[in-house]
Amino acid sequence: MNARKNTPASESAAGSAAADTDKKVDTSQEDLRTGLVELGDSVIVKAPPTAFLEVRDLRVHFPTDDGVVKSVDGLNFSLERGKTLGIVGESGSGKSVTSLSIMGLHREAGKTRGARMSGEIWLDGQELISASAEEVRKLRGQKMAMIFQDPLTAMHPFFTVGQQIVEAHRVHHPGVSKKAAREHAINMLDRVGIPQPNKRVDNHPHEFSGGMRQRAMIAMALSNDPSLLIADEPTTALDVTVQAQILDLIRDLQQEFGSAVIIITHDLGVVAELADDILVMYGGRCVEKGPADQIFTSPEHPYTWGLLGSMPRIDREIQDRLIPVQGNPPSLINLPTGCAFHPRCPYAERTGGQSETEVPELTVTGPDHMAACHLPLETRHQIFTEEIAPRL
Ligand SMILES: Nc1ncnc2c1ncn2[C@@H]1O[C@H](COP(=O)(O)OP(=O)(O)OP(=O)(O)O)[C@@H](O)[C@H]1O
Ligand code: SF4
Ligand SMILES: [Mg+2]
Repeated sequence: MNARKNTPASESAAGSAAADTDKKVDTSQEDLRTGLVELGDSVIVKAPPTAFLEVRDLRVHFPTDDGVVKSVDGLNFSLERGKTLGIVGESGSGKSVTSLSIMGLHREAGKTRGARMSGEIWLDGQELISASAEEVRKLRGQKMAMIFQDPLTAMHPFFTVGQQIVEAHRVHHPGVSKKAAREHAINMLDRVGIPQPNKRVDNHPHEFSGGMRQRAMIAMALSNDPSLLIADEPTTALDVTVQAQILDLIRDLQQEFGSAVIIITHDLGVVAELADDILVMYGGRCVEKGPADQIFTSPEHPYTWGLLGSMPRIDREIQDRLIPVQGNPPSLINLPTGCAFHPRCPYAERTGGQSETEVPELTVTGPDHMAACHLPLETRHQIFTEEIAPRL
């Protein structure tokens, strides 16, 4: 049996080379799911990440009086700078827990929230789960930033918008004068489309409209040019016109800053225009991921079909527009056996009982495309073409 060593990439390469100079890392033996690389016949170390952000086998569990809530249970994905990943799923599927884990905010809340985390989160070569709270705090705001659904939770009501942007900037640039930081805040408000930024900079958050507050929060998040921006339901509370403006703004700013962006939403429509790749979550796990155009044109998981069917369409009569997924999201304390989606899946009975008993593995179905379903791929293609696509 091989011994396993959980060492950061930099240490692993140096340490293993020192331990056994004859053995070289053979990346062909890398296990893509875990990122583990086998060195010869006895030592396994964690492979250095190749992507800007790489999440490996992330698990976030919350012990509660009712049992352990497995909010995220074995999530893997990666993201490059300049690219956008959409994470999509119904309420309670683990989207926010994933983003808060990357930002290190579960550990920040510490014992009171009692999150048990395992796996790896590599950001630009640094592993965050094993990093100290202080190291992660430094990265937050500087290298990674987050836009929340409700700006009022992220902004302090007693301080002006300008003071808060100045503070966010000066924490990471202590040498910058107050005057220069204020100029920077005005410039940021201008960049996100706030009219009269030199006046608005002295307003308090409640003096802004919902859309303007969202813009101000984006200005605050971008004040240190973060290379990773996470937007968690950034437009849910906004009306459709403002929603489109905010999404355009995020896209423009991403192109300008070249950041990696994660957009989290329960609505596939929000990421249709924006995301390069889409990851569909169900019950704390990924059930499908792939390039956005493939997720929209040839989705391969019945749950994704359900999400696509739930997307509002302006060119249809109201009664034909929505085909919601039947039933409710599962309990994350007692996930259904086998495929967690089976109690709601109209195709479960076609797998001869396998859906109820065996957890389907994520398997590669095409270039960069993976899905976890027991139905043979040809059967899924046939169902999608004949039954689903005509209704979308
Ligand atoms: N601190 C906590 N303690 C216990 N359970 C938690 C905690 N934080 C989150 N959860 C649970 O983890 C699950 C996933 O929550 P999460 O907030 O990630 O869902 P989500 O996909 O973001 O949903 P929504 O679309 O409603 O925002 C939920 O069942 C939630 O109740
Ligand atoms: S594994 Fe079975 S229950 Fe799960 S999505 Fe596929 S057909 Fe449906
Ligand atoms: Mg959420």
